[in-house]
Amino acid sequence: MVHMTYTPKTFNLPTLEGISEKQIKVHLALYEGYVKHVNLVAETLKGYASYGDKATEGDKYAIAELRRRFAFEFDGMRMHEHYFEQFEGGAAALTADSTLAKAAEEKYGSAENLTAHIKKVAGSRGIGWVVVYKDTKVNTIHTVFVGDHEVGQLAGLPILLALDLWEHAYMVDYVPAEKKNYIDAFLANLNWSVVEKRFDEAK
Ligand SMILES: [Fe+2]
Repeated sequence: MVHMTYTPKTFNLPTLEGISEKQIKVHLALYEGYVKHVNLVAETLKGYASYGDKATEGDKYAIAELRRRFAFEFDGMRMHEHYFEQFEGGAAALTADSTLAKAAEEKYGSAENLTAHIKKVAGSRGIGWVVVYKDTKVNTIHTVFVGDHEVGQLAGLPILLALDLWEHAYMVDYVPAEKKNYIDAFLANLNWSVVEKRFDEAK
C-alpha cells in the first residue's frame, strides 16, 4: 500500500476587516495540525498492516477507530483549504449575471437571499460549518450545516463555499455571543469570484 503524503498549502491572504492577523495565524496553525494528522493516521494504519494475523482484538479496535477518524482529519484539512482560499484576492461581491447568481436566484429567489440563507444556517447551535454545494446532476445548490468536519457532508458534491463555525475560527477576536459579528466579517471579506469559479468549474 502506498500512501500519499500531504503538505500544508500556503495562502496569499490580504489584510482582513474584522478578522485579525493573530486569529488567522492561530487558525492556520490548526489547519497544519490537520494535515499532520492525515499523514499520521495513514502512517499508523500502514504500520498496523504489517501485523497481519498477529493483530490482537485491541489492535483491531484501534485500526477500526483510526479508519473512522481519517474522515475527521482529512475533511478538517480540505475544509480549511476551501476556507482560506476564499479570502485570497480580497473581498469581491457576487457578480449579478454570473451562473452562480442565476442558480441562487432559482433556488432562493435572489442572489441576496443566498447570503441571507447562509447567515440563517450559520446561526445553528453547535460547532461545524455552513457548506454550500453544487449538485451538478440537477444544476442546483444546497446550503447545509456540517457538524465537526465530516458529519453531514453531501456525497460527491463539489464544495462552493465553506464557512468555519468552530469557536477556534473566531474566538481570538470575538466571544461566543458575538458569533454573528464574525459571520458578518467572514461575508464582508469573502471573495465571491472564488465561489463563482468553483461553481463554473464543478463538473
Ligand atoms: Fe477551523
